[in-house]
Amino acid sequence: MTLAELLPGIGCSTGPVLEEGLWPDGTALSGSDLVIGGVPATRLAAQFGTPCQVLDEATVRSRARAFASALPEAEVVFAGKSLPCPEVYRWMASEGLSLDVSSAGELALARAAGFPAERIVMHGNVKTSEDLKAALAYGVSRIVVDSFDEIAQLGALATHGQKVMIRVTPGVDALTHAAIATGVEDQKFGFSLASGAALEAILRVVEQPSLRLVGLHCHIGSQVRHVASYEETVRRMVGLIASCGVRIEQLDLGGGFCAPSLPGESSFDLFGFAQRVRGALNYECAVHRVPVPALLIEPGRSIVANAGVTLYRVCAVKRGVARTFVAVDGGMSDNPRPALYGAKYAVRLVGRGGRLQPVTVVGRHCEAGDVLADGLLPADVHAGDVLAVPVTGAYHHALASNYNQVCRPPIIAVKDGIARPIVRRETEEDLLRRYV
Ligand code: LLP
Repeated sequence: MTLAELLPGIGCSTGPVLEEGLWPDGTALSGSDLVIGGVPATRLAAQFGTPCQVLDEATVRSRARAFASALPEAEVVFAGKSLPCPEVYRWMASEGLSLDVSSAGELALARAAGFPAERIVMHGNVKTSEDLKAALAYGVSRIVVDSFDEIAQLGALATHGQKVMIRVTPGVDALTHAAIATGVEDQKFGFSLASGAALEAILRVVEQPSLRLVGLHCHIGSQVRHVASYEETVRRMVGLIASCGVRIEQLDLGGGFCAPSLPGESSFDLFGFAQRVRGALNYECAVHRVPVPALLIEPGRSIVANAGVTLYRVCAVKRGVARTFVAVDGGMSDNPRPALYGAKYAVRLVGRGGRLQPVTVVGRHCEAGDVLADGLLPADVHAGDVLAVPVTGAYHHALASNYNQVCRPPIIAVKDGIARPIVRRETEEDLLRRYV
């Protein structure tokens, strides 16, 4: 029995074998070094400094392709918020994916990437008039409206049959963390199906001469594990399509497909999802005698999460009363997810091995909750060691902050033995630029 099996829930590592399913495709051990995209992690840490986020391009591309090939009939829309970066948006464009943006800022990155407007969807529960104007000016193909105020505002701003989808709250509990459960009633997203607001929104959009209703949209949450949650969503959404009396050409089921972050966790059953959702959609449409709408999905995390690895340097080791704390040069400013969602991570020491002991890896920020991972590291772990934390490709760069005025890390893309920054490290000059 391994130490990880003895200590369940722990993100084990530094053993002689890499945990399956967590690391970017093709990641290998070379002695005790970790080789990602053909580049040794020790070299990445030395060349680009720490903390540093490594992103394996081949993994991102192959996950994007997996969605496209599992659902060839669907439009696969990358959720741009999960990894906002023009270079990543360019990879998505070249893989034939569409892109969703939820603000003028994300749209500015898409524009910088030259992302084709006809494959951009804009959503968000609040779009300011600046967001809407930017979307109209760039000519994004669809805007997902999320409130009656927005329907009126967009109706007044748009001039020529802007294509619109309506965000519906289907009342489905996707059994995920409350902060990322967006399909249930009584929260800020979308128009409630149960209350009749969704039906009313359909009629309001149809009344606006400057808008053209093309579809319904929903997103039941993030880190969704069960395909059944999507099947139930399809049932409810098709029920609405059938009852509204308006031709609905597109049905967007949103994203949310889970990504494993600890050893032993399974990946999302993409093949099962494709089969069962396709089946449910065809069946429900046949029962209700409505044409089958074109399907859209919006994966974010499941494409980029496991392509990312963050490298940290150990700065201090404290043998506490009950635990050993290993403090690193990053923390909640590059990964607030443990504090926000109770997210768990694995950790591995790079560059050498040794007898393992349980430790708690903590960050450098002024909060006791700034904890990155529980794991197993060599008992003699010391300042200067490099640690690697996998599954950091989604919502890490996006959620990073300057807490304690710590500069945000770079993103280093790796592919075929070549490493290159696609986001540079933030500097104190960057920080000072905003202060008046
Ligand atoms: N579509 C819509 C409308 C969304 O709001 C989201 C994510 C997605 C698609 C993509 O979901 P994904 O496939 O990435 O799960 N910051 C949180 C996640 C928030 C998700 C927000 N919406 C986290 O770090 O877990």
